Amino acid sequence: MAQKIRVGVLISGGGTNLQAIIDAYRSNRIDARVVFVGSDNPEAYGLKRAQKLGIPTFAVDYRAIIKETRGKPLKDPVPEGFDLETVLAKQRVSPLSSDRAKVEQYFRSRAIAEASLLKEMEAYPFDLLVLAGFMRIITPYFIDRVNSDPSQPRIMNIHPSLLPSFPGPDGYGDTYRYGCKVGGCTVHFVDYGEDTGRIIGQKAFEITPDDTIDTVREKGLKLEWQLYPVCIQLFAEGRLRMDRP
Ligand code: GRF
Repeated sequence: MAQKIRVGVLISGGGTNLQAIIDAYRSNRIDARVVFVGSDNPEAYGLKRAQKLGIPTFAVDYRAIIKETRGKPLKDPVPEGFDLETVLAKQRVSPLSSDRAKVEQYFRSRAIAEASLLKEMEAYPFDLLVLAGFMRIITPYFIDRVNSDPSQPRIMNIHPSLLPSFPGPDGYGDTYRYGCKVGGCTVHFVDYGEDTGRIIGQKAFEITPDDTIDTVREKGLKLEWQLYPVCIQLFAEGRLRMDRP
């Protein structure tokens, strides 16, 4: 086994992907270990999964931060180094409301939350940041601070569809409702858009007439649990080339 890479994980909910990653390294299937688990949701069950195993956890309550900043004058303090114009120029998340005040409010509140995440993460140096059901858009403010070398991206996400089809929060639902006969999941690097980053790995499954939205989700999740550890191992082995598709 090679040197283990240090993986930080961000979650929002149940954390079955987190569990699959933990199981993979505990059974020596990947050269990685999880050094922290963070969440935007203090109630996320995945935090308990980590705590049971002695993995450090933290939560930044996004909902409270968004509520707190709503309707406040835009002159309120923003995190050090945050420049709204730079973030707006880089971001490719769409569609965003064309109402300028709303857009500013969106990115300002996210930067406040992301600055807290970054502060918590400082205590745990990591090689790779894995989004495992983290249901928040991360903005250029956060991405640039993690990807200090832009040619070496180190944030991965798992998405519940065969990208580039069906980006957004409900990939399996969108796949099923469209009437697709094949569904799947995708692991990709995170860039400034929504689910648009370079694809690392994908797995597909058949959707039959007997399937329901629930069985589609079940089939997809089972494949996610296989796919994420494989992609983390590719990263650990330095086999992800950035200079070709
Ligand atoms: C997964 O389907 C993932 O693709 C999506 O959110 C779900 C998270 O599930 N982004 P879990 O928290 O890992 O169980």
